[in-house]
Amino acid sequence: MKILITGAYGQLGYSLSKFRSTKDKVYRTGVKIPLGEKGLRLNIIDNIMLKDIILSLSPDIIINLAAITNVDFCESNPKIAKEINTNGVQNLVDVFPGKIIHLSTDYVFDGLNGPYKEEDQINPISVYGKTKYDAEKIVLEKENNLVLRANVLYDGLKYNNASFLNWVVNNLKNKNSIKVVDDQYNNPTWTESIAKVLMLCLNNNISGLYHWGDEDYLSRYDFAIKIAKAYGLESSLIKKIPTSELNQLAPRPLNGGLDQNKLKNILKIIPPKINDCLNAILIKEAE
Ligand SMILES: NC(=O)c1ccc[n+]([C@@H]2O[C@H](COP(=O)([O-])OP(=O)(O)OC[C@H]3O[C@@H](n4cnc5c(N)ncnc54)[C@H](OP(=O)(O)O)[C@@H]3O)[C@@H](O)[C@H]2O)c1
Repeated sequence: MKILITGAYGQLGYSLSKFRSTKDKVYRTGVKIPLGEKGLRLNIIDNIMLKDIILSLSPDIIINLAAITNVDFCESNPKIAKEINTNGVQNLVDVFPGKIIHLSTDYVFDGLNGPYKEEDQINPISVYGKTKYDAEKIVLEKENNLVLRANVLYDGLKYNNASFLNWVVNNLKNKNSIKVVDDQYNNPTWTESIAKVLMLCLNNNISGLYHWGDEDYLSRYDFAIKIAKAYGLESSLIKKIPTSELNQLAPRPLNGGLDQNKLKNILKIIPPKINDCLNAILIKEAE
């Protein structure tokens, strides 16, 4: 099978690229190809580039990870957010006749009643959430496509400045005190966990709308404490604050997160616990 990944040099793209099997050919694409990496330049809003690449590679499946994921940037730049997160996805659906697997988010919900099931009421409260929900509707117009919603992805990759895990670890290593919100609840998900699930969905030809998140449902503060403990760092440097104190531009769903039972039962898999994921990341970092 020929699999084309868009946004392949982001956080999830790196984990997904590790899962290729010998029988599949994987094409990694991105707006910029980082130094030392192989891949093809592809901006999903560029229709001509998109048509050329699809014609020349004729992939069987596209996994779309391309998105503007900075929630506050989306709030202050709604046109750019819509152009990439929604219109870019429309381009993919218009140009590519095959199956699309698209990543979405728990930010399509308002955060009053998480963790959310697939059939729960949508109500995005940010531009990011709205653009991602609009993209879901576009992708699901074709029966064979799959939308997989995820929440709070993390990994320990050194290059990743946006990773919450790296932010906590680097600050605590430098003995900096950090403020972390204790009123935002999710089930943080290791990128390798969701990458495995994506590959299982692909191999089992799953289509429709599904949720995936790892096992523990907890506040961001409690997640930071778990990180400090796993890395042997000083957890007393982590101070609790409410979300309102951060004055973030985009509102955040407070009780967010995803109920993954539906997919868990279909794929017969057990979501991992945060402590096990953090230990696995530490082992990889030591190798
Ligand atoms: N991170 C999370 O916590 C989280 C949670 C739920 C769902 N998701 C979804 O999961 C997917 C992957 O997220 P991630 O964490 O891997 O995000 P990420 O690290 O921000 O990666 C997104 C990638 O998309 C690329 N991109 C941006 N605009 C593009 C365009 N016009 N054409 C092609 N590529 C473009 C980015 O490139 P540049 O960096 O060069 O702009 C980046 O490499 C996204 O759809 C996101 O909405 C993420």
